Amino acid sequence: MHPKAAELADAIAATGWGCVDTFLVDAELEPLVHSARALQSTSRFRPAGIGRGPRRQVVPGLRGDSICWLDADRQGGAIATVFARMDALRLLLNERLYLGLFDYEAHFAIYPPGARYARHLDQHRGESARVLSAVLYLNTGWQPDDGGALRLYVDADRRVDLAPEGGRLVVFLSERFEHEVLPAARERLALTGWFRHRG
Ligand code: OGA
Ligand code: MN
Repeated sequence: MHPKAAELADAIAATGWGCVDTFLVDAELEPLVHSARALQSTSRFRPAGIGRGPRRQVVPGLRGDSICWLDADRQGGAIATVFARMDALRLLLNERLYLGLFDYEAHFAIYPPGARYARHLDQHRGESARVLSAVLYLNTGWQPDDGGALRLYVDADRRVDLAPEGGRLVVFLSERFEHEVLPAARERLALTGWFRHRG
């Protein structure tokens, strides 16, 4: 079992969210970043939208990243490795928290300098199958003044800012926590995914 997975499960059980560093170590990050760059260089990223179905629209002032969805069945190399890692985490979370997580969907997200994602919820009550949001950051050498924090509104009167440091994994209940992405001084790369219920 991954040493950080148990720590993460305990945090989620206690508070509904958790953040662990070095879920991936630098040597594991490098090939994953390379895969993202390869997809970027073949124009596989698209501007991300907000809203669902016919109401979906691209509003860069509210959400400025570009994303590339990953098909779990069609991946090799570093992406397959991280999907396997997330699947092991899914099984552990089911064992410990009885969440009934059925699968995992994920995309790479690239925020250019200055881009943000305004405060939002990843799932509206009863609307989709998303149970847990899981954001894995891929930015090596992130500095405190680079900005780009994930701001998580953990309580009515408390928020936490989590820097997108390479190898860090943040997981939170999709339905419970509003959050936003603050603008960064440099490009910001993440693998963003969701553990879902069946159906
Ligand atoms: C999202 C999101 C957070 C982050 O893609 O829905 O909120 O830190 N991402 O990248
Ligand atoms: Mn989100």
